[in-house]
Amino acid sequence: MHSESTAQFESRKVDHIRLALDVKNQASGQAGFERVELLHEAFPELDFSQVSLMHRIFKGELESKPLLVSSMTAGHHQAVDLNGRLAEACQRHGWLMGVGSQRRELRDSSARQEWKEVRRRAPRVKLLGNLGLSQLIRTSTEDVRRLADSLEASAMIIHSNPLQECLQPEGTPDFAGGLKALEKLVKELGLPVIVKETGCGFSAQSLSRLKGLGVMAVDISGFGGTHWGRIEGGRSQPGELHHEAAKSFANWGIGTVDGLSEAVQMSPDYEIWASGGVRSGRDVAILLAMGAQVVGLAQPILKSALEGEKELDFLMSLIEYELKVALFCTGSRSVEQLQEKKVWRWRKV
Ligand SMILES: Cc1cc2nc3c(=O)[nH]c(=O)nc-3n(C[C@H](O)[C@H](O)[C@H](O)COP(=O)(O)O)c2cc1C
Repeated sequence: MHSESTAQFESRKVDHIRLALDVKNQASGQAGFERVELLHEAFPELDFSQVSLMHRIFKGELESKPLLVSSMTAGHHQAVDLNGRLAEACQRHGWLMGVGSQRRELRDSSARQEWKEVRRRAPRVKLLGNLGLSQLIRTSTEDVRRLADSLEASAMIIHSNPLQECLQPEGTPDFAGGLKALEKLVKELGLPVIVKETGCGFSAQSLSRLKGLGVMAVDISGFGGTHWGRIEGGRSQPGELHHEAAKSFANWGIGTVDGLSEAVQMSPDYEIWASGGVRSGRDVAILLAMGAQVVGLAQPILKSALEGEKELDFLMSLIEYELKVALFCTGSRSVEQLQEKKVWRWRKV
């Protein structure tokens, strides 16, 4: 495994937060939402107060809102307070929360302290652990279990990010044995395993390689929002190899809407979750209507959490309200009804 100092690790994580907030590292408008329309119902035959966001997820095992703060950050000085704030907000709103990569804990067990503080602030929130596939290949199941235990995780997310690892000056672009490592983890961990991308999506071919491995869910995390090729390109200087190559890959990835449409058509043996460029409750409704069971947002949540608790609460309330409006205006009392009624179509040009 690539060895880097704690100072290098911290500075990379802080760079990531700064660069994720820069609009040029967002593939805005390219997720594909504008090509889909939800069918307006002029006679909803519902009272707005009857609309409920509670939904059965984890293949029916858990009742939750279908909303997730996508995995972001962990293991550096800014992270404790940020994750505490995110966890409290998720607990208040009933959202799931993915934590950022727990890679640092693998070599520095004191980094686990972060989760003690987060759990003190939000004892009931459903947290999902996180580790990169390129680290999983080199990590024992026992060590992954320790990561999950340290935050009392409800599931473990494994993220795959080949473009980022290639363009990251200190990256680990070694994914050989990744599928075998996933299969082993699912068999041995004793907790649900969720696989996600980080903004480049999954092709149908990639998804078919996950069939039969026993993963609980796949978050397609497609192209259309935060772009890790662009972010890593911004961490090296003009004229340097990684910086120049990143320009050629600035639009690399499978759009969230197209990726989800293909994923659902495959009728996989795992649940499909979606993220990547989700910026409103209407976007959430589109992805749920198309068949996602949980929808995640990362960058907008990060931005409002850094502004303050009030701003974060407002954004989460706004997303929920917009989602309820979309349910109501399609005549759906619940997410289940939204999905059963097939209320979406490709927009006619
Ligand atoms: C600052 C930041 C850090 C991230 N770190 C991680 C990570 O550690 N693990 C992971 O699986 N995804 C990570 N992601 C990716 C997000 O979970 C998500 O897949 C991606 O940003 C697309 O969502 P968005 O367009 O809503 O930002 C990170 C995203 C941001 C903005």
